[in-house]
Parts: sequence; C-alpha cells; structure tokens
Amino acid sequence: MSKGRDSNETAWGTKRRTILKACCAFALTAPAVAARGDETDEASAPPQAGDALVFAFGKRAGQVIALADLKVGSKQVLAFPMNPTTMRVRDGSRLNQLAVVRLDPAQLAGDTLARAADGVVAYSGVCSHTGCDVTDWFNDKLHFKCPCHESEFDPSDAARVISGPAPWQLAALPLKLAGDAIVVAGPFVGRLGFAQPGGPSGP
Ligand code: FES
Repeated sequence: MSKGRDSNETAWGTKRRTILKACCAFALTAPAVAARGDETDEASAPPQAGDALVFAFGKRAGQVIALADLKVGSKQVLAFPMNPTTMRVRDGSRLNQLAVVRLDPAQLAGDTLARAADGVVAYSGVCSHTGCDVTDWFNDKLHFKCPCHESEFDPSDAARVISGPAPWQLAALPLKLAGDAIVVAGPFVGRLGFAQPGGPSGP
C-alpha cells in the first residue's frame, strides 16, 4: 500500500469518526428537542377537562387549589390549569390565566350555577378591553374590577360587564369538584381574548 493511500485512508477514518459523532449527538439531542416542543404545546394548550387549577403567583404558585383554600366572597385568586398526569402547568399562554372566586351558590345566576363547583367560578383573567390582568375586587359588590380602566364584571352572572369600557363579558371556564380539588369540566364558554384596535367590539 502506498504512503499516499495510507494518509488518505487515515484522513477518511478521521472524517468518518467525526460524522458518526455528529450523528450520535443529533440522535441523542433530537428527542430532547422534540420533548421540549411537546412541553411547550402542553403549556400553551387551552384548559382541558380534568385539569386541576393551581395558584398562578405568590408563595403557593404551582400548588393545587382546593375548595378549602377559597373563602366565600373573598377576592379572586389568579390561577392556571395544570395537566394532573404530567403536572405541567399550562402557563405558556396568557389567555390561560384565570380569575377564580368562591361565591354563595344561592347567589349565582342559572348558567353560572351550572358551571360552578360548590360556588367556585372561573373566568378568563384577561380583561376583554385591552388585555390587562383582572386583579382588583369590589369587596362590597363582590365584583371583579380591572385596574387599567376600571371595567367591572359580575362573577355571579357570567362575568357580564357592569360598567367600564370592556366590550364583552369574560369567558367562563366550567368547573367541577374531584374530592376537594377544583377541576376543569370543559372548555371556555364565550369569547376569549381582548379587543384589537379596529376589531369587532362584541362577543
Ligand atoms: S384593560 Fe381592562 S378596562 Fe381596560
């Protein structure tokens, strides 16, 4: 065998090892990339029937909300749905943020009562006006208040707009109880999201 051929074969051997290494590295990383993609999809997917609700913020962020955590008539809690099997919190979309409040079942309007779990009701936590978080509360009226432009929503009656510039009521999320845990019973009812400049101004 000539010296030139030996050096060519050595060079090819090195190149082949490099290609194999690159292929192995790809084979090892590709599933991880795919898995991250799945996680993103799962986090951004809208609430699914059977999802638990978890606290969105604060010291208990990520913990499951139980019926006993909510006092009748107290200010809303901001929450996200969570897949109870994978424990993945669906916080990949702002539109999954929820305003959850517990009211006296006797005070709920018919449709709202049908979607409630022992008086607990959940709505989109994103204001339909320009998309602020619905974080404020009228303690006397038991209504949601948007801090940005003071739209007021009645959670006992489908979160209909009582006052302010919000163009439509907050989308409602049906709930049920699973033991002491509050669980999603079905998809959002009503229009989700907020008004875009020049867009439709009603549900
Ligand atoms: S964003 Fe809520 S009232 Fe304007």
